[in-house]
Amino acid sequence: MNEMTTVSYQQHAYSEGAKTLLARKPALFINGEWVASSHGETIAVEDPSSGQVVSHIADASVADTDRAVAAARAAFDDGRWSGLAPIARERIMLRLADLIEAHGDELAELEAIDVGKPKSMAGVVDIPGAVSHIRYMAGWAAKLGGETLQPYTMPNSGMFSYTIKEPVGVCAQIVPWNFPLLMACLKIAPALAAGCTIILKPAEQTSLTALRLADLIAEAGIPAGVVNVLTGYGHISGDRLVKHPDVDKVAFTGSTEIGKLINKNATDTLKHVTLELGGKSPVVVMPDVNVAETAPGAAGAIFFNSGQVCVAGSRLFVHKSIFDEVIEGIAATAPFWAPRPSLDPAAHMGPLVSKEQYDKVLGYIEAGKRDGASVAMGGDAPSADGYYVNPTVLVNVNPQMSVVREEIFGPVVVAQRFEDLDEVAKAANDTCFGLAAGIWTKDLGAMHKLASKIKAGTVWGNCHAMIDVALPFGGYKESGIGREQGRAGIEAYLESKSVIIKL
Ligand code: NAI
Ligand code: MG
Repeated sequence: MNEMTTVSYQQHAYSEGAKTLLARKPALFINGEWVASSHGETIAVEDPSSGQVVSHIADASVADTDRAVAAARAAFDDGRWSGLAPIARERIMLRLADLIEAHGDELAELEAIDVGKPKSMAGVVDIPGAVSHIRYMAGWAAKLGGETLQPYTMPNSGMFSYTIKEPVGVCAQIVPWNFPLLMACLKIAPALAAGCTIILKPAEQTSLTALRLADLIAEAGIPAGVVNVLTGYGHISGDRLVKHPDVDKVAFTGSTEIGKLINKNATDTLKHVTLELGGKSPVVVMPDVNVAETAPGAAGAIFFNSGQVCVAGSRLFVHKSIFDEVIEGIAATAPFWAPRPSLDPAAHMGPLVSKEQYDKVLGYIEAGKRDGASVAMGGDAPSADGYYVNPTVLVNVNPQMSVVREEIFGPVVVAQRFEDLDEVAKAANDTCFGLAAGIWTKDLGAMHKLASKIKAGTVWGNCHAMIDVALPFGGYKESGIGREQGRAGIEAYLESKSVIIKL
């Protein structure tokens, strides 16, 4: 408690470079040019560490969205990107990765100002993550190809049959506010490698790094019109992108609610759709663990990025023999995770992204208390101008409570006891989500049995949120459709054409 009261919630000074970027005129990046929105409307940019408006971005209208789609369509149809030799696409993408790396400190500061995440965290997670997505996918640009196949029902001597891989075309990529640059790069990388063209729509709360990325995209030599960046609201420009007849694919990361809506809206034009949605990921702690290592691991699984992580370990299941010990171990991490302003070098956790998210998370904590949950850690918010919420553990919960069933997307974990493996597997699967899970044990048999029983796209053992671009990532059940990253990630941007020739 005492350690926490010494925290100052005063945001630190911005660098001169950041001030210059924040003072830029609001503009959209369409066909390689910076243009104002058609109606001149803007959206305020807030620093959640202070609650202050620090900049403005352009609010893309439907007309602006149509212009961006037309630019991407023309850039795709004339082959200015897909027609390049793969080695050229690869080299330009590698140049972009180098530029992002070279501007890493500046991008980490922008992310800290925009999202509220500690600059130090952005510097070791978001920026290197963004770079690795582009470098990894750049390699695929030169390694795509179909196969020669032997027909089954026709004599092979008179026939020549093969497949060709082609880019799907114009891609609308709509990303959320929790990892803005990382999500943008995760999305554009496979599309660029495949030869697609792109309209990237960052979240209206956090568009600063996507705009800076547009500068670097131009500097890297990606031709005009290949990547267009539209800042604006989801229900206006996002909605238009999803319904636009000239868009071939929609890739979305965000809430399950909007993911379902996008899937419906994309149906009329039968677009390719990949969806990366919400989660309520279980973390299972078996009785054999070293509590001193596991408790901080379970704390990190939920408190990293203020719990605003699709794979956050938000349902904790601890074997009854060590339940109290693990909860005490997590509660002991309170000084480490105490929320601080994002530019405070001591920060490990910042505020939540917005007032909306702050109200939502505190609303869930109150609902949990009303439903009978007890607070084992946190459970409140410090008094400050920014959107800080203290890291929170709720115990004495039951599977009917909203805090157990719904995605909170904040630093709040619900902890439950279990007795045996089958029981905990069943409890872990008692959710509409299936994005990820964590298992903590030295018992390899238990590890593999649980890994196979839990219905989730990713399972971690003795760690959490270790995401690597080489491994496919995506959700079971209502956590999504399709896979990103790895070979599956590039395939999601390719069409396959079968050519059958009678000789
Ligand atoms: P959201 O799903 O509404 O927004 C994500 C992106 O979709 C943004 O770029 C937004 O502009 C766009 N969008 C919104 N409505 C759209 C529409 N009708 N058509 C096309 N695009 C649209 O998420 P929001 O409102 O920012 O947050 C609400 C909740 O969603 C959060 O409290 C959290 O629980 C969850 N969430 C989950 C994320 C995840 O990675 N699983 C990421 C962000 C939010
Ligand atoms: Mg929304």
